[in-house]
Amino acid sequence: MLTAEQKCEFKDNGFIILPDFKSCAEITALKFRANEIAASHDFDVSKEVFSTDRQRGPQADRVQDYFLGSANEIRCFFEEKAFGTDGSLVQPLEQSINKIGHAMHDLDPVFHKFSHGDKLAELAADVGLSQTQIWQSMYIFKQPRIGGEVGWHQDTGFFYTTPQSVTTFWFAVDDATLENGCIWVEPGGHKSSLRQQFTRDGRQTKLIDLDTTPWPNTKSAVPVEVKAGTLVCFNGMLPHYSAPNTSDHARHAYTLHVTDGACRYAPENWIQRSNTLPVCGFV
Ligand code: FE2
Repeated sequence: MLTAEQKCEFKDNGFIILPDFKSCAEITALKFRANEIAASHDFDVSKEVFSTDRQRGPQADRVQDYFLGSANEIRCFFEEKAFGTDGSLVQPLEQSINKIGHAMHDLDPVFHKFSHGDKLAELAADVGLSQTQIWQSMYIFKQPRIGGEVGWHQDTGFFYTTPQSVTTFWFAVDDATLENGCIWVEPGGHKSSLRQQFTRDGRQTKLIDLDTTPWPNTKSAVPVEVKAGTLVCFNGMLPHYSAPNTSDHARHAYTLHVTDGACRYAPENWIQRSNTLPVCGFV
């Protein structure tokens, strides 16, 4: 799949851009299904969960339970700015969803098909994953005008393994541009230390600061403007970020977070699997 030069590029920069990795038909099918899931979602339930005060009391517990329950299910999440001060949606429902997560790759046939196959397995082997384990899928809508910023982070902090192995497969479903909030990465930044780790203990989750190395900024990082169908594959240690979507067009993307089963998967990672839904690889 990758040339020797591309393998070096991945090793040196921490990421690789593969245009036309997915066909127009594959992208269209995924987008259609994502919109179907969003449209069939029980909005009355989750809207209530997300439109009132999330910070305190039973409401905070419900938000946390909804989030934790999404680990091994298919659930929709609203954009932070979806609601006005009176709790009503500021734009149509279909333009208010932030993302769908986090087990579509196992539970939905269309997502399953998109997320598996020899091509992905071959690429995974080329970037050093000997035994793939797909822990999470996310379909991100990055809605026009209200699509929020995703702050600088490293995916390793969410899928900690020893040694570090998490690799992110980021598929552009729409063209990603500076205007609609493409991702930014710091070339070579995967060689820096892990700043934060997200851990879970029962129903409690927390983000722990591990290292004070400053995050990159848009001067030291580069924007990754790519066409729909492109796969951006990156090392989980690579710091990345995406700006708010200030344009009138959505920027859909789909991600998979994959680790190497030969490494130890931390028991404090927020997503765990059991025999009822075992973690699987690309094939
Ligand atoms: Fe990320």
